Amino acid sequence: MDFELKTLDLAGAATEKSDVLLVLVTDGFQAGKDPVSRLVSAALAGRDLETKPGKLLQAYRSEGIAATRVILAGAGDGSGKKMHAAVQAAASLLRNGTARKLTIVLPAQAGAEAVRAAVCGTAESSYVYIATKSKPEARELKKVVIGVADAAAQRQAFLRAKAAAVGIEFARELGNLPPNYATPTRLGEEAVKLARAHGFKAEVFGPKEVAKIGMGSFMSVAKGSAEPLRFITLRHDGGAKGEAPVVLVGKGITFDTGGISIKPSAEMDEMKYDMGGAASVLGTFRAIAELKPRLNVIGLIPACENMPDGASYKPGDILTSLSGQTIEVLNTDAEGRLILCDALTYAERFKPRAVIDVATLTGACVVALGGVRSGLFATDDELAGQLMAAGEAALDPCWRMPLDDEYGEGLKTNFADVANVAGRAGGAVTAAKFLHRFAQNYPWAHLDIAGTAWKGGPAKGSTGRPVGLLLEYLLRQEAAGAGKAADRKGAKARGRAAA
Ligand code: BES
Ligand code: MN
Ligand code: ZN
Repeated sequence: MDFELKTLDLAGAATEKSDVLLVLVTDGFQAGKDPVSRLVSAALAGRDLETKPGKLLQAYRSEGIAATRVILAGAGDGSGKKMHAAVQAAASLLRNGTARKLTIVLPAQAGAEAVRAAVCGTAESSYVYIATKSKPEARELKKVVIGVADAAAQRQAFLRAKAAAVGIEFARELGNLPPNYATPTRLGEEAVKLARAHGFKAEVFGPKEVAKIGMGSFMSVAKGSAEPLRFITLRHDGGAKGEAPVVLVGKGITFDTGGISIKPSAEMDEMKYDMGGAASVLGTFRAIAELKPRLNVIGLIPACENMPDGASYKPGDILTSLSGQTIEVLNTDAEGRLILCDALTYAERFKPRAVIDVATLTGACVVALGGVRSGLFATDDELAGQLMAAGEAALDPCWRMPLDDEYGEGLKTNFADVANVAGRAGGAVTAAKFLHRFAQNYPWAHLDIAGTAWKGGPAKGSTGRPVGLLLEYLLRQEAAGAGKAADRKGAKARGRAAA
């Protein structure tokens, strides 16, 4: 899909040729003397349109308007969230339709959040999965013009929103692929493809290399599967040489049967989404490719299946992790933490400024937070605050959860340094406490996306979360770093002037 940013007021919007013109109408709508204004004013006066988000009114071949179809959409107070809801409601009218060109005209006072909502909202609601359909009906919408009061002023917001949309869609597509397509091998290939196309460095390890490194915990989870494991490293060296990187770690269980502690059959197909963390790391790199931030970013993805088999790891097994800590397996369905712990230890070698792992880790997190906010755990208040703020801005929110040591008590065992599960109570927190043991040597955050990575039911599908959050966090880190670099330069110049 092709997006274009244009300076456009309501009068300009009336003359813009397109299949559909979408007008976002906020509280206190200011009418001009143009045909679009007349239409909106009449609809508001006749109470056939309200400014409440979600309220829609359509018109066909309306007098003085070049677009074939007009959709008026209430957008409330014009906040990012309301705008997003309005765009989504309107754009879903176009799904399975024939519209190829859409023009969206934003209110005159609209800022960066509104631009983001318009771009991401249309991308999101026009996405169709076709990869494994025999008669694919692809997305009809080809071109979206975003009309704002001052295109130059919104240029950066527009480019960032486009990058987010591309990254989110990449993650959704990978997430939605069936588990016999999105294998660990395929994830490795996708990483290499991304690297070749956009100038990242990629390194993909198989079972031999992983054994040599000593990732005994990760290797054990993969034992029952006929699909060989992969350990993927992606690097974006956008920052200064030697500058400490941000490391993103994504859980890449391409199918989670539970292993010997097998899951019930109902909805087990959804465990293809258990690589949502990995998909979000790859999606974030896809977005990074668009913007090339001046920042060093490393992505780490342990990828394998969790299957029952004669060769599977089993309850009672003691694993030796890369950190040296021994782990007693009490439930083979708590496999995510077992692949992540070795990746977290591996992350130490990059001397990171922060490590953020992303994982569909626990059903308990779905119980705690549902599908609205991802669970956020962090050892560092500053990092936690940055991720919270990024999530709010990107409309991809999270919520901080605790890490008190008392939550780790249940992981004690007589036979190893730690057990892989505690009791049922506080399951999202005890899982995080397990990971915490392996993330002692850098500022660390963990995002449990079990409730947010995909939707079930009739709208079943990957959401691409938390690509929006991660990208926003990285861009803010870049801005902060640029600020610091400017300070250093300034100080140097001042030093020279003084001398
Ligand atoms: N991938 C699942 C977590 C999950 C379950 C995410 C349902 C989304 C929906 C994870 O590997 C898992 O099975 N966790 C267990 C942990 C338990 C055995 C301590 C869980 O949550 O039931
Ligand atoms: Mn599991
Ligand atoms: Zn899992």
